[in-house]
Amino acid sequence: MAFLGKAAVLTEAGKDVELIDISVAAPAPDDAVIEVVASGVCHTDLTIKMQQGAGMKFPIILGHEGAGIVKAVGSNVTHLKPGDPVVIAYRAPCGNCPACRRGDPRHCYMALRPTTPITRTSDGAACSQVLRCGTFSTTTVVNAKAAIKMPEAMPLDKACLLACGVITGVGATMNTTTVWPGASVAVVGCGGVGLSVIQGAKIQGAKTIIGVDVNPTKLEWAKNFGATHVVNARDGDPVAAVRNLVTDDWPGYEGGVDFAFEATGLMPCIEQAVRMVNYNGTAVNIGFPGKDAEVTLNVGNIDTGVYWNKVNLRVCHCGDALPSHDFPLLAQLYLEGRLNLDAMVTGYVKLDEVEHAFHTMETGNVIRSVIRL
Ligand SMILES: NC(=O)c1ccc[n+]([C@@H]2O[C@H](COP(=O)([O-])OP(=O)(O)OC[C@H]3O[C@@H](n4cnc5c(N)ncnc54)[C@H](O)[C@@H]3O)[C@@H](O)[C@H]2O)c1
Ligand SMILES: [Zn+2]
Ligand SMILES: [Zn+2]
Repeated sequence: MAFLGKAAVLTEAGKDVELIDISVAAPAPDDAVIEVVASGVCHTDLTIKMQQGAGMKFPIILGHEGAGIVKAVGSNVTHLKPGDPVVIAYRAPCGNCPACRRGDPRHCYMALRPTTPITRTSDGAACSQVLRCGTFSTTTVVNAKAAIKMPEAMPLDKACLLACGVITGVGATMNTTTVWPGASVAVVGCGGVGLSVIQGAKIQGAKTIIGVDVNPTKLEWAKNFGATHVVNARDGDPVAAVRNLVTDDWPGYEGGVDFAFEATGLMPCIEQAVRMVNYNGTAVNIGFPGKDAEVTLNVGNIDTGVYWNKVNLRVCHCGDALPSHDFPLLAQLYLEGRLNLDAMVTGYVKLDEVEHAFHTMETGNVIRSVIRL
């Protein structure tokens, strides 16, 4: 039996998002059909539109920050049943790649994808799903191992945020790096991801958390989520501002933070993060780069150069998450009041308002718009 639904898709390069009728086939043995309840709108969905589909085949079902209810499972699936509430993971480890084989699934080279087809009802065209999810849809299908069960108490219109923005930011502080109690942290870009980095740094016990943004509203929010200091990058050199904010009684201290996270997708901000760290500090690139994006890094500057300052540069993909472990942990932190998801949702929209959500994201004062289906 096929499942019918409506999805917000890109039908061709340069066009706005359209709502179409889709049909999800009966689930293949390893897959699960999900009735999507809510999906966050992440900047990456907008980037995929701006990058003309980013190499995916049209029509493309957008959305990768979704939560819903299991509708049907394939014949091999034993850990889920219809009615289970789940969050959809876009990086569920494959189990077979070199990283998985050596017991390091957080660094899986690829992720499990569904094999069940989704087609456009009008002409039978096969639909692509952003990051193997396609959550801007009333119904979707994923590999069942990518559907992570949630506690019954977890509201799905908040749980959806765990799937990308929140796990990416929090995971960057717990998995990509390990922010230690008492650490100093800078976060360049305080959108949905950056505010989640701030929350993660706070949970990890960082002493100094500096939020950097160009939007004063974002900086106010950064303080609400745990930033101890904020820097408006429009007011002068953010690198100098961050370095000056961290001091130490030890006379040789040159300033700088233990960890600097870039969460903008802007190349100059990666370079800034690299120059913000102290000796042996770690800079993390989280933002999604353009296809030909390049960064020039100074190596030889005695205070901030990559060599003399012994800088570690890391790249964070989805918070280096192990979804089956991390999503229930983050849900627990929310239910205990230690992770704030409520204030991350700045507005709810309908499925036919994706373009509006993109527009408000570009113009500024939102953290996350959530589509309720
Ligand atoms: N690596 C991953 O796994 C992953 C996951 C999710 C999102 N992303 C990417 O992370 C980035 C952030 O995503 P988001 O959803 O938080 O986006 P967002 O639009 O909500 O936030 C971006 C923030 O950067 C700020 N900003 C813009 N210019 C700035 C500057 N010069 N200096 C400092 N701040 C500046 C904006 O004001 C905004 O607050 C995007 O590039 C997104 O594609 C990556
Ligand atoms: Zn995302
Ligand atoms: Zn793998």
